[in-house]
Amino acid sequence: QLVLDTLDGQGSIKDTRLLVLPGQSEPATSHDSQITILGALNSLLSRDMIKYDSHEVISYILSSEGMQIAREGSHEARVWAAVPTKGQGAPMTPAQLKKEVGDATAKVGQGNAFKQKWIAKEGDGLIKAVDSIKDVTQLDLQEIESTGDLKSGERVLADLRKRKLVVQRKGQWFTVHKGVNFSTSTAKPETDLTADMLASGAWKTSTFKKYNFEAEGIPPAGGALHPLLKVREEIRNNFLEMGFAEMPTSSFVESAFWCFDALFVPQQHPARDLQDTFYISDPAKSLPPEPSYYKRVSTVHEHGGYGSTGYRAPWSHEESSKLLLRTHTTASSTHMLYKLAARCRGEDVEGDENEFTHGARATTAHGEPVSDDGFRPAKLFSIDRVFRNETMDATHLAEFHQVEGVVADKGLTLADLIGFMRVFFKKMGIEKVRFKPAYNPYTEPSLEIFAFHPMLDKWVEVGNSGMFRPEMLEPMGFPKDVRVHGWGLSLERPTMIRYGINNIRTLLGHKVSIEGIENSAAVMM
Ligand code: PHE
Repeated sequence: QLVLDTLDGQGSIKDTRLLVLPGQSEPATSHDSQITILGALNSLLSRDMIKYDSHEVISYILSSEGMQIAREGSHEARVWAAVPTKGQGAPMTPAQLKKEVGDATAKVGQGNAFKQKWIAKEGDGLIKAVDSIKDVTQLDLQEIESTGDLKSGERVLADLRKRKLVVQRKGQWFTVHKGVNFSTSTAKPETDLTADMLASGAWKTSTFKKYNFEAEGIPPAGGALHPLLKVREEIRNNFLEMGFAEMPTSSFVESAFWCFDALFVPQQHPARDLQDTFYISDPAKSLPPEPSYYKRVSTVHEHGGYGSTGYRAPWSHEESSKLLLRTHTTASSTHMLYKLAARCRGEDVEGDENEFTHGARATTAHGEPVSDDGFRPAKLFSIDRVFRNETMDATHLAEFHQVEGVVADKGLTLADLIGFMRVFFKKMGIEKVRFKPAYNPYTEPSLEIFAFHPMLDKWVEVGNSGMFRPEMLEPMGFPKDVRVHGWGLSLERPTMIRYGINNIRTLLGHKVSIEGIENSAAVMM
C-alpha cells in the first residue's frame, strides 16, 4: 500500500531506500528493509500494477568483534583507559594489564597504543602518554553500523575489513513506476461487469481491472487452411484464368457404367477388380441410365461401331450397374460431356447457351467454318476426391484428390492438348515438361506428362492425358468432328513438393499434423 500510495502521489519512486516503512521513523536504508520492499514489489509486479528496476549497492556490516568495539571502544583505547596517568599511581605491569582488560585486548591493544603514542613505558610499567584520545576506530565502526557505509573512504574500510571488524555485503535498491494495471487498491479488481452487480448496485463501489491494450491475447482457435486447399485454390484460379468452368463433382458414388463403361473401359479391365476399386454393398445396384444411350454404349463394347471393332466380349448388365466409389474424376467429366452433347442428340436445351458453354461457333478452334449442329465448345475442370483400393504407404492413400481439365471443340489436335498442358503447368511454376506415349482405354493417343524437378534433379511423372476415343464420344451423340481432350493429375503430389512433405499421411487422413497445418505458409512460391 505504501508503494502504491507513493506512486499515486509522486508518479514514480526514484529510490526505495528513501521510503519510510510503516512503524519506522527512519528511511528504509537497511538490507532487511529492502528485502521487505522487494517482496511487495514482486507481488505487485505479478499483477502488472507496477514495474521496477533494481540497482545494486555494496554496503558494510560489523562483525561480532566490530560490534563489540563499536560499543566498548577499540583494544588500544581500552588499554589507554586502563593504565594510570603519569604521577597518579604506580605504572601498570603487563601482567596487571592482562588481568585488567583481558589477554586478547592487552596483546593487540598494547602494540597499537604504543604506535599511536597513547601510552609510554616507565620502568617496567605502562603509563598514559596523552591526556585524552579520539578513538577513530570506534567512531568509524559506529558510523558503519548505522549507515552501512563510511564517509572517510575506501582505504579505511579496506583496513577494517582486513582486521575482520567489517564485512562487505551486496545490497539492492529499486526504482518503481506505475504498471498497466496501476491502481491504489490492492483488492483484486473485477474483470467483468455482471448482471448480479447491476442488480445489487455493487458496480458502484467495485473497482474494475483496466483494459490492457498491450496484451498479446490468446491466439484465436480459428480455422487454418489446409495446404491441399491452398494449392487447390491456386490451381482453380489457374483454370479460371484460362477460361475453364468448374464441373460439379459432388457424387463420390458412381455406377460402373459412368466410371468405366461410358469411357469404353472393357468390363474385364483389371482396374475394375475388387483389389483396385471399392464397391458399394448397400445399395448394390445403380438406377438404369437413359436406355438408348445405355444401348449404344453396350453395343460399342460388344460389337463395335463408329469405325471400331469393339471388344467382342459378352456385355454384363450386372457389371455395369454395380455401385462404387469413383476411381477417377473422369467419371464426373463423362457425365458433363454427356450433358454437353444433349443438344447434338436433338434434346431440348433451354436457350442457346447452357451453364458451361458460350453459344455456337461459326468456326472450329482453328478457324475452319462449321454449321450449327447443336454442338457448343466447352472448357471444363474439376478438383475433387477419388478412391482406390491401394496398399497404403508414404506416397499412396486409399483416397486422394484429382485435378482434371477437359476441352471440347471442333478441329482440336494433339498439339492443342500439349499446348494447353504447357500453359497449365507453367502457371504452376513447372516449365520443363516432357510427354511420353502411354495407354488409357478411353484416350488415343495418350500421353504421360513428366516434369523436371530441380530439387530432386530428375524427371518425375506429374500427370496423364489424352484425346478421348470416338467409342466414348460418339455414343453420347457428339458429331464426328468434335474432339475432346483431357488431362489429370493428383493434387497431393504438387502440394507435397511445394510444402516439402515427404509422407502423404501427414497431409491427409487421421495422422494429419494439425500444428503443421496451422503453421504452413499461406503461399509457396
Ligand atoms: N483419368 C485419368 C487418371 O485417373 C486422367 C486422365 C484424364 C487421362 C483425362 C486422360 C484424360 O489418371
